[in-house]
Formats: sequence, C-alpha cells, structure tokens
Amino acid sequence: MKKITAVLLVLLLAASFTAVSCKGSGGTLIGIAMPETHVMRWVKDGNSLKTEAEAKGYRAEVQYGNANQADQNTQIQSFLTQGAKALIVGCINDGVASVIAEAGRGNVAVIAYDRIIPNSADYNYYITFNNFKVGVLQAESIVAGLNLGAATAAAPKNITLFAGSPTDGNAFFFFDGAMSILNPYIDRGVLRVVGPYPRTSADRDNFQRIATENWQAPVAKTRMENLLSNDARDVVLDAVLAPNDTLARAIIEALKSDARYRGNLPVISGQDAEYDSAVSIKNGEQYSTVFKDTALLARAAILLADQILNNQPINIPGAVLATGDLAEIGNTGRKYVQAYLLDPILVTRGNLNVPVDAGFYEQHQATNLRN
Ligand code: BGC
Repeated sequence: MKKITAVLLVLLLAASFTAVSCKGSGGTLIGIAMPETHVMRWVKDGNSLKTEAEAKGYRAEVQYGNANQADQNTQIQSFLTQGAKALIVGCINDGVASVIAEAGRGNVAVIAYDRIIPNSADYNYYITFNNFKVGVLQAESIVAGLNLGAATAAAPKNITLFAGSPTDGNAFFFFDGAMSILNPYIDRGVLRVVGPYPRTSADRDNFQRIATENWQAPVAKTRMENLLSNDARDVVLDAVLAPNDTLARAIIEALKSDARYRGNLPVISGQDAEYDSAVSIKNGEQYSTVFKDTALLARAAILLADQILNNQPINIPGAVLATGDLAEIGNTGRKYVQAYLLDPILVTRGNLNVPVDAGFYEQHQATNLRN
C-alpha cells in the first residue's frame, strides 16, 4: 500500500511538473520576422515556423517586411512591446541592428534565420544552410550541364554571371561557392565570362555590377535584356549563373524574347526548389535548382529557440556547427555567432522526386510534378 502511494505521488509530481513547464511556454511569444513575400519561400518559412512553434506550445506571430528594413524594424518593435521572449529574424539589411540591440538589452533570445544579421554583436545564434555549398552545387550543375570537362579552349563555352542582393550576406557565399568551381575552368580558357567578371565577391565593384538589389526579379530581367543587346550581342550564351529560382525565371523570360534562345535556352542554375521552377526544370527550361528543405530549417529554428529559452544545451539534429572555413558564415562583421548549418541538395530533371518525396509541395503540385 505504502509502495502504491509512493508511486502515485511520484506520478502526480511528474504530471504537475509537466503541466508547469507546458504552461511556462504556453504563454511565451515568439516573434517571427520574415523579409519579403516576392520570393515565395518566405511565405512557406513563415507558415512552417508558426506551426512548429505552436506545436511546442508557444504563441507565435509572423510578419513580413516587404523587403523594407524600416517596416521590419517596426514589426520587431511591436513583438518586443508585446513581450516576445524570442525573435526569429530573416532580415533585409544591416539596418536591423538597432532593434536587435534593443532585444539584446531586454534579454530576448534572437536567432538569425537563414540570413545573418549583419553588423551586430547583440545576438549569439544563427541557423541556416551551408550557403557556400549552395553555390558549389549551382556551379557543379553548370559544369555537368555544359560537359565542361570535355570542353576545349579552341571552342570555349560562354557564361554570364548574376548574383543576389548585395544587402544579403548569403549572396556573397552563394557566389563564392560557385566561383570556387567555375574559376579553374575560366583559367583554363574553356569557359569565358560574358559581361562583368568578379573572380570572387571580394571584387566589390564587379560584384555590384552583377548583383540584384533586394532579389527583385524585374532588376534581373532588365539586366539580362541589357546584356543581350550589349555584351552578349554577338555571342551565344551557353550558361547563366542565376542565384535563385525567382531570378532564374526572370532571366529565362528575357532570354525567350530573343529569337536565338527560343527553344534553345542556356544551362541556367537556381535555388529554392520553387514549384514554378520545378515545373520549368521538368519542361527542360531551367536546368537546376538547389533544394533547401525549409520545413526542416523551421523545425530546427524552433528547437533552437526552445533550447535557449529553457537553458538547455544546444543540440540540433541534422545541423552542424560551422567551424573551420565555414565559421565565416557566422561572422556578423562584429563577432562570430554560433552558426548551425543544414545541408542543401542539388536538383535537376533526374531527381525532381527528391523535393516531391520530402513533401515540399502541395498535393496537386506534387501530382503534377510526378506525372
Ligand atoms: C535565401 C534564398 C532566397 C533569397 C531571396 C536568400 O537569403 O537564402 O533562399 O532565394 O534570399 O529571398
């Protein structure tokens, strides 16, 4: 009898302990600040983050910054006013630093999400993908698509280069990863760059010339149109390094308005495995994309927030802490934060099933891609 009472007591204690810890996080607000909606992935990120946070018993609110840092700062301010204990921030540019400083002063846990929060020493954690590898994969797909291994200096292939937003730290890693693969072919003379050629992003002047402010599709489209009537007027392009899917499709649109490329597009890279680009890959237009499973990123981010808020040791399955050369990914310019990296996957026509099987698309989209 005594034994049963003791067991019951232990069970009761355990139950009330769980109740208390659930209640502890139940009222806790996590503010989720996403940068923009003109690139589809962020809408998905916002939804996944909210779902994951609520599944762990948090309150979650999502706001989108419309590619305007002042707007996002107002949104973050409002999270702080509402008493948020954690912020998950995909920022637009370094103008975010002032509100992050305020969050730091209030002991609010800040996690840089996908994009680093630059020029800030007021936070400690960053969760993202291996962004250098994203660029490596983009370039490797171009090498394969052009069969560059068999190309000769007598008949070189022509490529033109695009980069993402110069306000987004990721854009530099994507580009440098890509050039780490392409430069040796350029040096051998089997690949020729048409238009500006920054050998790495450290060549800021030329990088700026190929960059796409705020990842705006119309900017990339116009730049491609200008290339076609200037630098690329008298050559046929065999490849375009495009930093993401939204821009890849804008570049394809511009190319299609040039008779030389209709039905005969260059090898074009991408990133994000957006549905429209998956369809384009299926139809043999865009050549590749890089699949970053943002559902996993969102899950990892909320787990990280949960561990920080509960003073637990950080342990994020599926992510590695950036060390060695990769530690630069966590360099804010003011300090090194702990950067946890997930692994990106290259997708071409042959393995479109990978994002489909991962459940990345809605049912009707998956069906369409499978057929
Ligand atoms: C993200 C990409 C995205 C781009 C434009 C980058 O920071 O890593 O996935 O395509 O922003 O939104």
